[in-house]
Amino acid sequence: MPLTLKPATNLTGVITVPGDKSLSHRAVMFASLAKEKSRISDWLPAGDCWATVEAMRALGAQIDVLSQDETGAELVIHGVGLQGLKSPDKPINCRGSGTTMRLLAGIVAGLPLDVTLTGHEGLCRRPMQRVARPLRLMGADVQTRDGRPPMRIRGGKLSGIDYEMPIASGQIKSAILLAGLFAEGETVVRQPGPARDHTERLLQAQGVSLASIGKGAIRLSPPQQPLRPLTLAIPGDFSSAAFPLIAALLVPNSHLKIESINVNSTRTGLLDVLQKMGAKITLSNPREAAGEPLADLEVQSSALRGVEVQGDTVVRMIDEFPIFAVAATQAQERTIVRDAAELRVKETDRIKATVNELRKMGAHLIPHPDGFEVHGPTPLKGAVVDSDGDHRLAMALSVAGLIAKGKTTVKNAGVIGDSYPGFTTMLKEIGAEVSE
Ligand code: S3P
Repeated sequence: MPLTLKPATNLTGVITVPGDKSLSHRAVMFASLAKEKSRISDWLPAGDCWATVEAMRALGAQIDVLSQDETGAELVIHGVGLQGLKSPDKPINCRGSGTTMRLLAGIVAGLPLDVTLTGHEGLCRRPMQRVARPLRLMGADVQTRDGRPPMRIRGGKLSGIDYEMPIASGQIKSAILLAGLFAEGETVVRQPGPARDHTERLLQAQGVSLASIGKGAIRLSPPQQPLRPLTLAIPGDFSSAAFPLIAALLVPNSHLKIESINVNSTRTGLLDVLQKMGAKITLSNPREAAGEPLADLEVQSSALRGVEVQGDTVVRMIDEFPIFAVAATQAQERTIVRDAAELRVKETDRIKATVNELRKMGAHLIPHPDGFEVHGPTPLKGAVVDSDGDHRLAMALSVAGLIAKGKTTVKNAGVIGDSYPGFTTMLKEIGAEVSE
């Protein structure tokens, strides 16, 4: 499905965005491991998260969908307890969702099950060695096809490990901690950078003993009691808010308020970088929900200057680089991104695809092995561009279409539903001209 966009004159309004994707996956998985009934509202009804629901059902959890529309769903999850999952009768299809596959790998590794995890072609190109290796060290039998899916896991009888993660990654950390729930003895993960910490927060809320032991290391003790059920309202996803946020920064005369966003500092690197570039963004009404810090974001059109992004900031904005590149095309002088080689193994090679597609619109980008540079400001021109099967690239290109001269068509934009089901509705609501 292609999306067509026309240049916007101004973007205004007060909006919310759908629930946090990372939390939506985790809520379903972890509630399935609790003994009693959990209730999750404002859950993200996106393709990737449905893959997790189907996976947990295939493993024996009962998940009822009480209501759903584009903006959110309400789920009741009847957990089966830590030992209650069973082997599915066929391979589990994780669709395009890396989070589903990698976190699930950690769970099934700890149980006496025989599970094959597979998915769409794009997912089957992504590296799984990064979770297979530590899970094998803990004692699971994990087979991959040259380090990629399908992944067959025969789990059971794990021992805790002390593992130095080679990459700062929320998914690898979570897979190891989840396996640690079932292991004998403590598990320690040592992270080289501040990867998202939603797993730690949720497991703690379920009664699991987790401690930060310094320098990014976390220690988990296997629980002696059943996990507590969850009652959560999932806050808005900062990674989804990034699209209207940057659209309003770039389209003149815009003023937008985005309410109830998860502003967990492991996720908001983009905010720090944009503010350094001169963006007028303010946070108000700080509060807490689902064990996460929430705030409302207010943004106004702003003149931006180029910036350097590297080190720990990269993992704190790992999903935001396609849309960040769009912002950088409008910034004075050079923007450079380093230490971001992980972008090459996301839904697509995000360095290559972002550079290639934005070049079609007249932007000046140069790829590097571990990042890219952008020379701005460049007036963009409408073009026919392609998502390359990547939901975040599709949305970033749509935002670029709002500031380009003439008409922009984003091909293969149906993938937006993988993470942001109401994206076009939201764009129309704030004043953009979009047609499907
Ligand atoms: C996620 C972690 C990140 C991120 C992904 C979601 C998670 O992946 O890119 O969209 O929910 O843990 P990595 O851990 O591979 O960096």
